[in-house]
Amino acid sequence: MKHRVLVTGGTGYIGSHTIVELVNAGFDVVAVDNFSNSGPDVLEGIAGIIGRKIDFMELDCADRSSFSKVFMKYPDIASAIHFAASKAVGESVGNPLKYYMNNLQSLLNLVSLMREYCGEGASIVFSSSCTVYGQPSPENLPVSENAPLQPAESPYGRTKQMCEDILRDCVKAYPELKVTALRYFNPIGAHPSALIGELPVGIPQNLVPYITQTAAGIRKCLSVFGDDYDTPDGSCIRDYIYVVDLAKAHVQAVRRMLEADSEAFEVFNLGTGRGVSVLELVNVFREATGMDLPYVISSRREGDIEKVWADPSKANRVLGWSADTPLDKVLLSAWNWQKRLLEKK
Ligand code: UFG
Repeated sequence: MKHRVLVTGGTGYIGSHTIVELVNAGFDVVAVDNFSNSGPDVLEGIAGIIGRKIDFMELDCADRSSFSKVFMKYPDIASAIHFAASKAVGESVGNPLKYYMNNLQSLLNLVSLMREYCGEGASIVFSSSCTVYGQPSPENLPVSENAPLQPAESPYGRTKQMCEDILRDCVKAYPELKVTALRYFNPIGAHPSALIGELPVGIPQNLVPYITQTAAGIRKCLSVFGDDYDTPDGSCIRDYIYVVDLAKAHVQAVRRMLEADSEAFEVFNLGTGRGVSVLELVNVFREATGMDLPYVISSRREGDIEKVWADPSKANRVLGWSADTPLDKVLLSAWNWQKRLLEKK
């Protein structure tokens, strides 16, 4: 029997790019999504890239009986990549119950359904975040997987920590299950075809969608949140990772768990290993696209971390993976996607 991978949140930003890479790698896939933050047109985008429709079911992973239908219909599911979750940091502060109910219930349902339907050798890749590290102390930069975790800054971040804890307990108790938690740094960019990409709802909260919308004239001006941080140019530093590189790491994680020597619970940081400031990123965007990008320096955004970037050497070594797409190419892909969105309107 072939190895089918269930992708929850499959029409989301990272989920859709991961499906493309799984199919390219020869895996059978079935995706589920409740379209709470995406739409059916993402399925068309995926089909445009891979040349055929994927198996898909519209359902809510937080509803166990509806979620169980995918396991009944696809008895060959052996792995799951779990993206389905609410992800807006600000919203989670105002509506924590939504985050705890949705993000925790979906994961609990996934684990219990996999135990019921998948049996021996079942594996889960969990979509985690570098938010679990908070602001690492200077001696812990770049951040390795061994860096101490900090209390979460938001209910969203807390759900990531709680889900990791739940999964760690589950693999201890259920020897038939393996789990890999992937801690993403800042995913950006879009597929080179410009058929799938990030689709922020309303005013973008994240830097790169705000930049592309400003260059497109949808927003007047980018606000750079603070230039008085303790960094070389005063703006915050992050590790921006290309979403296609990130997607490929998921394929490697699924493969890794098929190997006999993989541990029951593994954690990997997914980043480039390079810290880039907001102002640097603005300049690379301008040079790569030739577009004007008006910006002003404004006050710091509450809750922002000053600087964080990954030590990805464990993922490089163990997963045989690295994120090496140059930043100018990545920003150009984000811009091409924005242009395509404008054409579609
Ligand atoms: N920024 C601006 N102007 C903007 C938007 C962002 O200057 O309009 C700056 C931020 O201050 C920050 C950097 O750009 O310094 C990156 O901000 P993002 O909002 O793109 O990303 P964050 O690092 O704040 O958040 C990301 C994910 C979260 C996750 C967090 C973990 O979006 O889901 O990393 O640290 F929780």
